[in-house]
Amino acid sequence: MHSKNITANEIRWDDKGVPHSIHFRDKYFCTQNGYEEYKHISGHGNGLEKRFAELDPSENGTFTVIETGFGTGMCFCCIWELWDQFAPKSWNLHFISVELYPLSNTDLDRALSVWPPLAEYRKLLSAQYQPHKNGIHDLHFKEQRVRLTIVFEDVVEALTKIRQQNVAPQKADAWLLNGFSPFANPQMWTQEVFDGMAKLSKPGTTLSTFTVAGHVRRGLEAAGFKLEKIPGYGTKKQMLRGWRP
Ligand SMILES: C[S@@+](CC[C@H](N)C(=O)[O-])C[C@H]1O[C@@H](n2cnc3c(N)ncnc32)[C@H](O)[C@@H]1O
Repeated sequence: MHSKNITANEIRWDDKGVPHSIHFRDKYFCTQNGYEEYKHISGHGNGLEKRFAELDPSENGTFTVIETGFGTGMCFCCIWELWDQFAPKSWNLHFISVELYPLSNTDLDRALSVWPPLAEYRKLLSAQYQPHKNGIHDLHFKEQRVRLTIVFEDVVEALTKIRQQNVAPQKADAWLLNGFSPFANPQMWTQEVFDGMAKLSKPGTTLSTFTVAGHVRRGLEAAGFKLEKIPGYGTKKQMLRGWRP
């Protein structure tokens, strides 16, 4: 497969400190409260608080989350905070994300600086984060308890690499579908992406996303996921959650 070269994402900042992608004409998170939005859609949408709290403290396993669209890293920081609040200390979080148009370290740090609850996570992440050339890059935090793998590739190629290089040996426990809107960013919402997700899923794997677009629902169902619409965050009436039977 021929790699698409990663390209820097040019940012416009609005008066609330929210970054917008000039190329995709869309924002990285909602203007109302991006922090609460990610907690609701990616965390609650996958039942993560409860699932983290129910992990058996007498075991030392790994919980694997895969995200499409790393962006500012804010969703990663929100899930990491939930992990610290709810998961037993004996378990590890492996958060895998994919990104073809990475932000600079300065832009990532600026985007995260708006959210006081994430101050500690922002400091740790921006001390290590660098946009890279194509490939798989691993960062480790908190004595290896939290591992972040960013695959700097187009999403389809990234999912193939994650599979072929056995980056997620136990497959995904949860998917966070965080591309820009399917209309602004159709490459993130193709049948190839949904089929790639299915190959990295197992019975009980869950997913969540802000969009309820018809072609996204049909594509995920064709890939074998069951779906349900639930209340969205803020002005969005609905969002999707799903699971692999
Ligand atoms: C809404 S933003 C994600 C926000 C992110 N989750 C956060 O916490 O800030 C969508 C991301 O998908 C990335 N993206 C868009 N098209 C892509 C593609 N074809 N492959 C990989 N990443 C892509 C964009 O560069 C952007 O960072």
